Amino acid sequence: MKLPHLSLACLPTPIQPLPRLSARLGGPRLLVKRDDLTGVAFGGNKTRKLEYLLAEAQANGARTLITVGAAQSNHCRQTAAVAAQLGMGCILVLNGDSGQIPSGNLLLDHFFGAQIVWTTREARQETIKATFDAAWEAGRRPYLIPLGASNPLGSAAYAAAFDEAAHQLKNVTVDWIVAASSSGGTQAGLALGARRALWKGRILGISIDEPEHDLKEVVAFLASEAGDRLGYDKRLQPEDILVNSDYLGQGYGIMGEPEEEAIRLFAETEGLLLDPVYTGRAAAGMIDLIRSNFFKPGETVLFWHTGGQPALFAEPYGAALRP
Ligand SMILES: Cc1ncc(COP(=O)(O)O)c(C=O)c1O
Repeated sequence: MKLPHLSLACLPTPIQPLPRLSARLGGPRLLVKRDDLTGVAFGGNKTRKLEYLLAEAQANGARTLITVGAAQSNHCRQTAAVAAQLGMGCILVLNGDSGQIPSGNLLLDHFFGAQIVWTTREARQETIKATFDAAWEAGRRPYLIPLGASNPLGSAAYAAAFDEAAHQLKNVTVDWIVAASSSGGTQAGLALGARRALWKGRILGISIDEPEHDLKEVVAFLASEAGDRLGYDKRLQPEDILVNSDYLGQGYGIMGEPEEEAIRLFAETEGLLLDPVYTGRAAAGMIDLIRSNFFKPGETVLFWHTGGQPALFAEPYGAALRP
């Protein structure tokens, strides 16, 4: 069964080999799926999810998108860009304060004409509700997109992304897909797609900010609910989901030495940019797993690049990454 979706992303995104990175690490064969090239406003994984959510929003007659995230949220930046592209309003409920100089994703949010409502983590739910109610009363026909667009519909987009990759890899055996996992929708969709296709490889989510147990539960739930919408009747259990949360470092959004090393290594060996929050952390985890011989010799590992590079140009990352 196919779900309604708009065509917003440039698909399929390429899959490319990473021979110099692989040689430098003395590790398995490495490939990368370039979802940083989905096309909308510097790309990233949320564009695929938004294709599905926006079809529902339009069917509901929505005129304003409301979503939520960190000040440097890639999800919010892609949502704001899509709203501009479709002639819709956009309100972003962001953690932080209005005093900060806009840089990185936040600067781009302003370009797209998004209205910013500042909040704190504690007051977030209350602020979202108040913002939604005010937009509704003002006749703006709001449509609420959850954190990271990680609901069953958004996750279904990544089951289709798995199918896309499987088609591209018809003649290549891939043993592992490694991806950053945070609100869980990306990993849920990939896990669902893999299960549906009876794929023999494993999907490994490197947790960005959640304990392993919690993230497995979320991913299994989203995968099962997305499957339900797609007419797939088997549910996925937490024990079917592979999550590694050894790389949380000092916490969400705090770039440490492992992320910095991963960013420099990908850039120096492959001319490829990672981001400091998500793909930098996921790649750092993958690099550590390679160094500790987690992957067997002769295996092929596909790193699913989920985007996020505008944050490279945001403070405090830009300053920290200067030579
Ligand atoms: C660049 C990037 N990679 C990965 C993720 C994680 O994806 P998910 O929230 O679907 O787990 C995000 C989420 O914001 C992201 O911005």
